[in-house]
Amino acid sequence: MSSSSGMPLKITQPLLPDLNGMNLMVKEIWDSGQLSNNGNMVKQLEAKLCEHLSVDSLSVFANGTIALSIACRLLNLSGEVITTPFTFPATVNVLAWNQITPVFCDIEKNTYNMDPAKIEPLITEKTTAILPVHVFGNPSDVDRIERLADRYGLKVLYDAAHAFGVRYNGKALSSYGDLSMLSFHATKVYHTLEGGALVFNRPSMKERADALRNFGLPGNEEDIVEPGTNGKLNEVQAAVGLLLLEKIDREIEKRKQIFSEYTRLLADVPGIRINTPLEGIVYNYPYFVIEIDRSKFGLSRDELHQKLHAAFIYSRRYFYPLCSNLRCYRDLPSSDPAKLPVANQVADSVLTLPLYGAMTDEDVAYVCDKIHASRNES
Ligand SMILES: Cc1ncc(COP(=O)(O)O)c(C=O)c1O
Repeated sequence: MSSSSGMPLKITQPLLPDLNGMNLMVKEIWDSGQLSNNGNMVKQLEAKLCEHLSVDSLSVFANGTIALSIACRLLNLSGEVITTPFTFPATVNVLAWNQITPVFCDIEKNTYNMDPAKIEPLITEKTTAILPVHVFGNPSDVDRIERLADRYGLKVLYDAAHAFGVRYNGKALSSYGDLSMLSFHATKVYHTLEGGALVFNRPSMKERADALRNFGLPGNEEDIVEPGTNGKLNEVQAAVGLLLLEKIDREIEKRKQIFSEYTRLLADVPGIRINTPLEGIVYNYPYFVIEIDRSKFGLSRDELHQKLHAAFIYSRRYFYPLCSNLRCYRDLPSSDPAKLPVANQVADSVLTLPLYGAMTDEDVAYVCDKIHASRNES
């Protein structure tokens, strides 16, 4: 038995389109006879997303990982790219798949984003770009990072997988840098079952991106301009995306309420630090992340994680292990834990708790009661 409804509490529950609305969309797709290849639904989705995010130009893809990989081609990246170890492995894998060496930079204690003060010493003559992640939707220090990139002639590619709808300084966070990647995976705040997007700073990039997601075929021509891949979103996924755009503001509002309730119930617990949105931004409440200080809380992060699982509360250790400690990256010179002290400490202390719009206040109270009880038992 768990949660107010007696059901296990998963880390998230995907937002779903209304089934009747979905049936109508599917009928429209069936009637059109076009299931993929940049059809009407994909075109509509791209237009509506530009409107919703207030950006000039974007393309949608089969997932965020392929979108990021295509972004590396679009920006002609090679050699070394400076990135963060505190991310989902896809960020780093994409570099490796493009024969680029990841160079890990340590992170800031308060946002868990790449520490801009630690980037410059990592720049070499082989560096072509900086790839920061807006971790848990909090903006990286875009102003400082872009000033540094300009000084050294580097590209800036943001992994904005968590940052759908986040606004910084009055504009879409995804409109900063040369390019930003959004993930529309089913576990994200906004999704298309699987999917992703690239938001372009220069709209002229779209044409090449659309060719690269379609094997390298430009428009209706038969010639391949450069070797591309298959990164297309299909029509049914685009229809899900269109329907969820109608629900996303309400979902984020509900997440905000749940976030506040968690904060109210956990703010004063010794040894718990809550990862909060930066001042002045428009936030999307993608995750509720706490950091456990064992000396004050009484239990380690892993012990609390196990206790919650025993109560059918499926917390996750995001992001653990650090990418720099994964077997395929740990031998890189920049992976030395002595060079990444904050990232290693944070990865060993963070715990993500269930958060989604359909959660009730009773569910939140249930999770927080278990956390209080675990502490008292220690
Ligand atoms: C930070 C980060 N980057 C990249 C990805 C990959 O996105 P996708 O699953 O859409 O390929 C994810 C999540 O899945 C992520 O959390």
